[in-house]
Amino acid sequence: MASSPFDLLPKVAWGKGLYIHDADGNRYLDGSGGPATFCLGHGNEEVNAAIKEQLDKIAFGYRYHFRSDAAEELQQIVAEEGGGNLKNCIFTTGGSESVESCLKLALQYHTARGETSRRRFISRERSWHGNTLGALSVSGFLQRRQPYFGSLLEVSHLSPVNAYRPPEGVAPEDVAEYCANELDEEIRRLGAEKVAAFIFEPVVGAAGGAVPAPEGYAQRIREICDRHGVLMIADEVMCGVGRCGTWRALQHDGVEPDIMSIAKGLGGGYLPLGAAVYTDKVAEPIMRVHGMPITGHTFTAHTTSCAAGVAVQKILKRDGLVDRVAREGVYLRERIESALGQHPHVGDIRGRGFFQGIELVEDRETKEPFPADLRLFFRVAKESLAGGLICYPTGGNVDGIKGDQIIIAPAYNATRDEMDEIVDLLVPAIDRAIASTRQAA
Ligand SMILES: Cc1ncc(COP(=O)(O)O)c(C=O)c1O
Repeated sequence: MASSPFDLLPKVAWGKGLYIHDADGNRYLDGSGGPATFCLGHGNEEVNAAIKEQLDKIAFGYRYHFRSDAAEELQQIVAEEGGGNLKNCIFTTGGSESVESCLKLALQYHTARGETSRRRFISRERSWHGNTLGALSVSGFLQRRQPYFGSLLEVSHLSPVNAYRPPEGVAPEDVAEYCANELDEEIRRLGAEKVAAFIFEPVVGAAGGAVPAPEGYAQRIREICDRHGVLMIADEVMCGVGRCGTWRALQHDGVEPDIMSIAKGLGGGYLPLGAAVYTDKVAEPIMRVHGMPITGHTFTAHTTSCAAGVAVQKILKRDGLVDRVAREGVYLRERIESALGQHPHVGDIRGRGFFQGIELVEDRETKEPFPADLRLFFRVAKESLAGGLICYPTGGNVDGIKGDQIIIAPAYNATRDEMDEIVDLLVPAIDRAIASTRQAA
């Protein structure tokens, strides 16, 4: 078999709380919940027991043959936590499938209403929505899209919404207004009757490094979508289910999307699980005309995955962990700022709750990033792992190629000692990674 860079990774053995142990006996502190997923940490006995209990009854009752308590209970939890009109959902096995289902629900909604010309999606650059072809088409992540050019859907990609890196000639305080107007202009340019939906991440994850939109942006795009009959899809796969200190990330802005994707924190990584959540407004024509959403997979609403989701969500609720994220996120941010705020190569620290991003730059004054071929973000991943810390570095935030950023996203029950340790391990890992670029030069 051909060798791959993954051959060099340690072999996982077991985990408890925020610590993971490899097969060679090394211990790692999980400072990013893997890919911002493990909201309860590892080895939670209550979740494991709930999974076993379901497995002992039956692993999976196929959705066209049976309903299940687990899926119905999880549906109810999602409806309650989502709040407002987001009462309907389709379960999936992960983020890409959830986004794919969201896109299809938008198309089906317009078809059911007789507006079959509404086929076009609008999204943003520096966004990540997943690896299936539809989700990849709406993603604005050059490196991950490039191998598939020619086979992706035609999508309008608007400017990234990032106050630290505003569109050229735009002042940071004008980013919300400018970017919202861009959406309005693009809908008018295409013709509203051609546009199905606008999809965006309320707090950008992998493609940006935990970038929240400036205040006012979400409200403005809500108004614009409504004015043009365009559906608003919030991709909350990474930032949702409590990670930002509210169960839905957009709750912070007082905005309800028409459709929303969630995944990572729903099952906390215990089993593959995600959902496309949608309002009654979206459900009504679909149910009236087609009788059901015409999308889904063999493992949709997998019984044991849903049982894991129920267990995770009950613990989040019982232990007040989403409120805890809102509260302790302030502490995490302060710790990161006091350790890295004055670092000569840290350009920006941003994020919300337990979803914090650190952008590395060569020059703080000019915001010039490190040359892309140094792959600094990759070096940070390597150095932090070698030092016993798991974090989530990604690249390409500046122009799709250049840019190095690190996401810190611990489990919602991370203690202050653990947060301190994350920061204490991260700082020297960043320094070692930067030093290694000088040796390479
Ligand atoms: C915002 C967002 N949407 C969609 C996805 C795709 O999810 P998955 O990797 O579970 O398919 C991700 C994955 O990181 C994501 O962050």
